[in-house]
Amino acid sequence: MNPEICVYAGSFDPITAGHLDIIRRGAAIFPKLVVAVLRNPSKKGAFTMEERLSMLERSCAGIPNVVFDSFDGLLVDYMRKIDAGVILRGLRAVSDFESEFQMAQLNRQMEPQVETFFLMTSPEHAYLSSSAVREIAMFGGDISPFVPAPIVQEVACKLRK
Ligand code: PNS
Repeated sequence: MNPEICVYAGSFDPITAGHLDIIRRGAAIFPKLVVAVLRNPSKKGAFTMEERLSMLERSCAGIPNVVFDSFDGLLVDYMRKIDAGVILRGLRAVSDFESEFQMAQLNRQMEPQVETFFLMTSPEHAYLSSSAVREIAMFGGDISPFVPAPIVQEVACKLRK
């Protein structure tokens, strides 16, 4: 498994400023960063897969070593498929630790050749999540501090009630 290929997986429904911070920092460390959106048939989500990928691409324009993809099933199977050796995760508050610890342990048990690499979130994003962004947008709040500039309008228009 190639340790130079790193995967940042998630729902990205939508990408937030916190995700973008982790993508930028991850791309500065690993030669190739794959941002992979989970296809989850049991969770419809606010945005379609095409919308999520398009928003990711527009938000990350100018970061040369980032590519975008989608996957379903187990993350470790996807890692094997593309020969990627590192999973990137961002840690926000202490409350993230338990579930992230569990996921990292289980993934490593299933595929010992894959390591999980954690970056601590920048403090201004510590309490940010896609679900909070969706809620703020739904009620007409200003989401411009919370999502990348190129997607502010699209998210606000689509979600406003
Ligand atoms: O955006 P999220 O919700 O933090 O992303 C979580 C994600 C997509 C990384 C995680 O749910 C995942 O890897 N799902 C794929 C299924 C899988 O591999 N599950 C086993 C993890 S122990």
